Amino acid sequence: MRVPMGHLETTDKDYELLARTAVARCDLLAGCTEHPGRITRTFLSPAMEACHRHVRNWMEGAGMAVRVDRAGNLRGHYASDTLQSGEHAPNLIIGSHLDTVPNAGRYDGVLGVLLGIALVEAMSGRRLGLDIEVIGFSDEEGVRYGLPFIGSRAVTGTLLAPHLARRDANGIALFGALDSYAARHPDVINPKFNPSVRGYLEFHIEQGPVLEHAGLGLGVVETIVGQSRLRLTFRGRSDHAGTTPMFLRHDALAAAAEWVLAVESAAGSTPGLVATTGQLTCEPGAANVISGLVSCSLDVRHGSDKTRQLAIEDFLATAGAIGQRRQIEVEHLIEHEQAAVDLDSALTAIANRAVSDAGILPRHMTSGAGHDAMIIAPKIPAAMIFLRSPGGISHHPDEAVLPEDVALALRAGTNFLNLFQDYLNTSVESESKSCIT
Ligand code: GLV
Ligand code: MN
Ligand code: MN
Repeated sequence: MRVPMGHLETTDKDYELLARTAVARCDLLAGCTEHPGRITRTFLSPAMEACHRHVRNWMEGAGMAVRVDRAGNLRGHYASDTLQSGEHAPNLIIGSHLDTVPNAGRYDGVLGVLLGIALVEAMSGRRLGLDIEVIGFSDEEGVRYGLPFIGSRAVTGTLLAPHLARRDANGIALFGALDSYAARHPDVINPKFNPSVRGYLEFHIEQGPVLEHAGLGLGVVETIVGQSRLRLTFRGRSDHAGTTPMFLRHDALAAAAEWVLAVESAAGSTPGLVATTGQLTCEPGAANVISGLVSCSLDVRHGSDKTRQLAIEDFLATAGAIGQRRQIEVEHLIEHEQAAVDLDSALTAIANRAVSDAGILPRHMTSGAGHDAMIIAPKIPAAMIFLRSPGGISHHPDEAVLPEDVALALRAGTNFLNLFQDYLNTSVESESKSCIT
């Protein structure tokens, strides 16, 4: 099926206005939170429902047909021109996530969804030779179930039985939460991608300092580093803080603290390795009681999967040695593992061209943060464009974005749509030539 060649054109003024609107919408969505005064919006929460109501309105205003899927993803469908429409029309997905970490910034994930909507708004009702689906994924951060990417796993068919059996802090299993969501939304659709999907594009703030340092507004991601999340339990003996001599203690917190510092120092001496213990709970948790049980998270990332695996083995061996010396039992559980992912070379070349046609020297980047693109890339061709993060700050309320960079992203996005359409067209032509010869 031939894709028409009509290209989209939008003026600087349109981009500036759309960019300001996208930023203002991110600011408004900051009010959809579980904790007033901080931004915290987790998987299938009432705050997420409130966020969906706003995003749905904007999607519908842009001319999209909007549904939620069974995994809680919000999906806006903008049909191609009438000649191509129907389930066999080639389809481009533009997406990112709508959930947040606790006490988050305003732009991580959310901006990528709003840029997708703004790109459709920039079309002012014109249609391309491909369908566009804008997806606001339900969970990328993994806060509620300790399992990131629930939304993108569901659309790629990689949300599996062991994932569904996980329980949140209130003991609610993931499958139960999904069933109640479906009962509250009787019009949910099957999350799986339409088979005619040809590509995925994600815009995201960089969440680091590289673009700002280089004086660039945009960059193109080539690789997303691999990541592992583990949970360690240090089991000692709780006892009286006043009567137990120091040499007779089995203090689980002291053991965990020694291990946290050892991990920090080992990670710091391996180039490119990052390791974080961001969450720690102590039991029974009183000032006058020695900690008997400590549960500690560990997040490890590196561009090389082998280096990441070796580092984890080393961290676990260190925990074992500390436990033995202090007579503390140490257990671990691997909660999540995701290999490093290269994005699609053809779509990345299109993204590079789209960015350079927007007047920015293309900068190839590796992402240390995880993104929905990471789950989607092994299934369909995916590309990512980063926007500069002022101060390099993210996962923090001071997270920021420059409206001029958002306008540049929109310009690059329109270029991407035009180039992607040409690319589909060329592939169709070369396919039909190879059929004739
Ligand atoms: C997501 O923000 C992650 O990289 O943890
Ligand atoms: Mn994040
Ligand atoms: Mn994100």
